[in-house]
This record gives sequence, C-alpha cells and structure tokens, in this order.
Amino acid sequence: MKKLAIVILVSLFSNGLFAEDDWGKTGHRVVGEIADNYLSKKAEKEISKLLSGHSLAYVANYGDDIKSDRQYDSFSPWHYVNFPFGEKYELNEKSDKGDIIQGINKCISVLKNTNSPKEEKLFYLKMLVHFMGDLHQPLHIGLADDKGGNDFQVRWFSDGTNLHSVWDYRMLDSYEMSYTEIAANTDVLSKEQVKAIKSGTVIDWMYESRALCEDIYEHTEIGEKLSYKYMYDYMDTLRSQLQKGGIRLAGLLNEIFS
Ligand code: ADE
Ligand code: ZN
Ligand code: ZN
Repeated sequence: MKKLAIVILVSLFSNGLFAEDDWGKTGHRVVGEIADNYLSKKAEKEISKLLSGHSLAYVANYGDDIKSDRQYDSFSPWHYVNFPFGEKYELNEKSDKGDIIQGINKCISVLKNTNSPKEEKLFYLKMLVHFMGDLHQPLHIGLADDKGGNDFQVRWFSDGTNLHSVWDYRMLDSYEMSYTEIAANTDVLSKEQVKAIKSGTVIDWMYESRALCEDIYEHTEIGEKLSYKYMYDYMDTLRSQLQKGGIRLAGLLNEIFS
C-alpha cells in the first residue's frame, strides 16, 4: 500500500502536476484579455475563425495544459530562457531544444505563412498567446543555476514556496482579483504610451524582463519571508508586465493578420 502511494506520488511529480512553472492561470488569462481589447477588426475576425469564437483568454493556458501529454514534451523548453546576469542572449549558445525567443519566432512564422494548415495555425496561435505571457514573467528570463527561481526557496506569508512561484501565481492569488477584473483595471494609457509599449522587438521585450529579474534578485534573499511589503513593492510591476504583454501580443497579432 505504501509502495503504491509512493509510485503515484512520483508519477504525479514527474508528470509536472506539482511543478509550478508558469504565470498561474490568472496571469496568462489577463494577457489574453488585454490583447483582445487591442485587436484590429481584421485580426479579431481571423482569430475568431481560428478559435471558433473563443477568446484569447480562453486559450491562454493551453501551453501549460499540454504539459500533461508526453507527446508535447519537446515544447517544454520554449517557455523560458536562461543565461547569466550581465550577459547578452545573442552571445550565448542557443539551446538546440529551443527557448522562448525561438518559440515565439516559430509561432509568428507559422501564422504568417499562408501555406500553413488551419490546425497548425490554431496550435501556434494558442502557443503564441501563452509564450507572450511567459516572456513578461521576469523569472522566465532567468538563471539556469536555480531553474529560473524554482530552486530559490522563500516563504510566502506562512507557506514555504519558491521565488518563481511567487511571480507565477502567489502574488496574483493574494491580490484576489479575477482575470477580467485585473484586465478591466489596467492603467489608463495615452496613444503615445501604447505606441511606445508596442515598439521594439521580442528580444527588446525579453531584456526588459531580464532587467526586472536582476532587480528582483538584488532585493530578495534565499529563505526570506515575503508578504505584504513585497506585494506593495512589486504588484505594480507585475500588473504593468501583464498589461505590456497583452498590448504587445495584440501588436504582433495585428501585424500577422493585417
Ligand atoms: N526551468 C528551468 N528554467 C526555467 C525558467 N527560467 N522558467 C521556468 N521554468 C524553468
Ligand atoms: Zn513560470
Ligand atoms: Zn509557460
């Protein structure tokens, strides 16, 4: 009986059921919902056809959902990129298994290719929505040593957890707003501000997350108890990252479906 329990536990862990490594469901949905608000008419129509009327928020967690299916194991390294602080992504050897930059570029190229079958476009559209969320989670532009903060133990209020999870979902859970409420309460931006956020490349946006990641490491200690003060210091950063992710996702989609 004991043996059976151990076998079940080991298989749950290895299947990733307990491995927390993404914006929780809320974060990804917020990015999808915000993007929906910035789509051009043309993009909205094309996307609605591909998604059979579902919203971007509805499909935003697909990239994580498929982790339960071995068939999709090769996509796991596409959710993040790790390289040392102070170094350039471009100068580091690229993982031949792919990373978040290569993943996003693949999604864009499939969606832009008029010869791509509809099923393939659908798959990569859902993946793009997901990866644009991950790109804006600072710990997804992390360090290999601690697996993007997954091995950086901290306390969140009275719970033992890790720094990666604090940024994936602990802060969002403690914030206690639904994804629609968060998306409806983003900062009001001028046209110029939106334009500035949309400008740049996927690589530029990746470096913004990297800078935040470096700041987070400077201000967090292993084993530290994080609670209200951490939320007070970082919740605006987190909200802003979700907003930028949504606006930039819409920018990419508007260009793809122009
Ligand atoms: N696994 C290894 N590095 C990771 C990262 N930066 N983010 C999420 N999962 C990871
Ligand atoms: Zn994560
Ligand atoms: Zn992910």
